[in-house]
Amino acid sequence: MKKTAQKTGNADRPLAHLGGLSAGQFLRRYWQKKPLLVRQAFPGFAEPLTKREVLELARREDAESRLIAHSIGGWTLQHGPLARRDFSAMKHTRWTVLVQDTQHFSNEAHDVLAHFNFIPHARVDDLMVSYAVPGAGVGPHFDSYDVFLLQGTGSRRWQISAQKDLSLKRGVPLKILAHFKAEQEFVLESGDMLYLPPGFAHNGIAETECLTWSIGFRAPSQQELSAALLDYLRDEIELDGQYRDPGLSPARFPGEIDAAMRQRVAKLLKKIQEATRGAAHQQRCLGCHLTEPKPHIFFDPPEPILSNRAFRRAASGQGVVLDLKTRFLFADDLFFMNGSEFPVGAADAELFRHLANTRRLSADVVADSAGETFHATLYHAYGDGFLQVA
Ligand code: SIN
Ligand code: CO
Repeated sequence: MKKTAQKTGNADRPLAHLGGLSAGQFLRRYWQKKPLLVRQAFPGFAEPLTKREVLELARREDAESRLIAHSIGGWTLQHGPLARRDFSAMKHTRWTVLVQDTQHFSNEAHDVLAHFNFIPHARVDDLMVSYAVPGAGVGPHFDSYDVFLLQGTGSRRWQISAQKDLSLKRGVPLKILAHFKAEQEFVLESGDMLYLPPGFAHNGIAETECLTWSIGFRAPSQQELSAALLDYLRDEIELDGQYRDPGLSPARFPGEIDAAMRQRVAKLLKKIQEATRGAAHQQRCLGCHLTEPKPHIFFDPPEPILSNRAFRRAASGQGVVLDLKTRFLFADDLFFMNGSEFPVGAADAELFRHLANTRRLSADVVADSAGETFHATLYHAYGDGFLQVA
């Protein structure tokens, strides 16, 4: 299989959901720079989940949800899992429910994300959905990440502003801008989409009962990335030897950490720098970090589990798909799945890159691959619940 066959396609091809811009044009002109409104980005948009399914998800232990309400008494925020009575208690408020990571529960939600494959999977956070009653919203705020707001059922008024004053209201349980001044306003109907770069102030108010889908991107802070790197190094680095000072001179001030001691420790720090210099360390750290599942995510091993041989037969007949929750990325010849390095032999690397790009391998591809290591690696991922027969 040629590597080019796995790419997302011609970056110059006009994309209807970007209003006829190509991926390249969108990224050059708008991405991380300015908003873009696309009317009928997804004409006849078929929603991955209904209102009822969204409210059911909000009640599940394995979904991350929030219930936000606004009334004369002010704002309230409640984290899920929610109960039926939480919704009935909202009667006299303007309330909205938000559920993160809908792609963990719906193939169709993954299909929505696939329209944004021109942005690396490593940058994608999730497909969030919000259900709102008329007049509800989460208040004027800004997000620190890029977002495409895709209108589903109903309509929502979006007010946006490039304002520099991003100070927040005090004493409110959510981040609400203290001085929001709308500069532009649009009502989005089903299938319309609004892209907003990070830090752009916005306020979405449901005009009717509505569902809004947010394709959100992750942008780890420098602090988060460096903490991940340092955690990784603590586990990975092994340095020999011990602190030694055979040439110790009599202490002039016994309470002092003297210059000679500081120099000996500086040498140790240099050793750490040398040990971390290789690119593979950086790739491993980044790959593990970017595929790490969120803390509430668990994978269930298959029940009952197919034998190695039965799995191979089924996978060759039907193909395989990544579990909806699986994050699978690669950097050159290194592969990472759900927070760990995923060993792949050089001969199988092309196939696993294809799996990482498209999240599936067809029956033909699996059946045509005679390599024992390939099938053993697939079976291993299947046994962990990371991948299934399609
Ligand atoms: C919402 O869907 O209500 C909020 C989405 C957002 O403002 O980012
Ligand atoms: Co927002």
